[in-house]
Amino acid sequence: MTDRYAVIGNPIGFTKSPFIHGTFADATGQDLSYEAIEAPLGDFAGRVDQFRAEGAKGLNVTAPFKLDAFVYATELSDSAKQAGAVNCLKFEGDRIIAENFDGVGLVRDITVNLGVTMKGRRVLMLGAGGAARGALLPFLRQQPSELVLVNRTLSKAVALAEEFAGRGPLIVSGYAGLADLAEGYDIVVNATSASLRGEMPPVPGNVFQGAKLAYELAYGKGLTPFLRAARAERVAKLADGVGMLVEQAAEAFVWWRGVRPSTAEVIAKLTVPLS
Ligand code: ATR
Repeated sequence: MTDRYAVIGNPIGFTKSPFIHGTFADATGQDLSYEAIEAPLGDFAGRVDQFRAEGAKGLNVTAPFKLDAFVYATELSDSAKQAGAVNCLKFEGDRIIAENFDGVGLVRDITVNLGVTMKGRRVLMLGAGGAARGALLPFLRQQPSELVLVNRTLSKAVALAEEFAGRGPLIVSGYAGLADLAEGYDIVVNATSASLRGEMPPVPGNVFQGAKLAYELAYGKGLTPFLRAARAERVAKLADGVGMLVEQAAEAFVWWRGVRPSTAEVIAKLTVPLS
């Protein structure tokens, strides 16, 4: 029987996940179907109960339900616990097993697809919301020489750093203090939601000097103000989050099906040129 999977969110109309997983399934010969479910706001659990009752095997979870999925799960992986959010579920009988592949997908995109080493490098991360939180531990596992976390609301960055104390060389700063700290970052990651509104986090221009990579977590927006600023400072590589999107999907696919799909072709198909 064909195994059923889906992505669940609200709204869900623009999701690329059915295309990505459909392509993976075709390429690997896996017998599965993958749909998009728009759950009512406030009834994530009811809609997932229904999908499970229909025999579904798993779900990708997107906004605004990543915390609902965290609560709904019966078993949380370390990465889900540390991210405080869930982006993938697997159903096995009564077990609801939860994962979060966003951070590992981002690291894989940076290190494998873009070929940029994080070990021993200085990394600057802008933002201290859900996206930044999910990336912190996977980043620290790469053993950067320093990971500087900057947020507009400094208290949020401080709270995050306290939570991850002892896990690696994490330093917190406000945007105003960044000019003093900036002595060359190798990788600058925009994990704020500023680009979704066409805004630019208030970084001093010199944060990009000498950087090898500027990475925008948002995807499909072309040259955001952040990437535009990085280009103006001649950062060698610019990337948006399309690779992260496809890599987290690939991690989910391996977890569900035991087969690793190749991602290059799917990333190429979904890439919006950065110009
Ligand atoms: P997500 O899950 O996408 O991370 P979030 O949890 O709402 O979304 O977090 C949004 C992040 O973007 C926060 O770090 C926010 O900064 P504050 O904590 O100070 O609000 C950051 N952010 C949003 N717009 C920004 C802007 N124009 N400049 C700088 N940071 C911004």
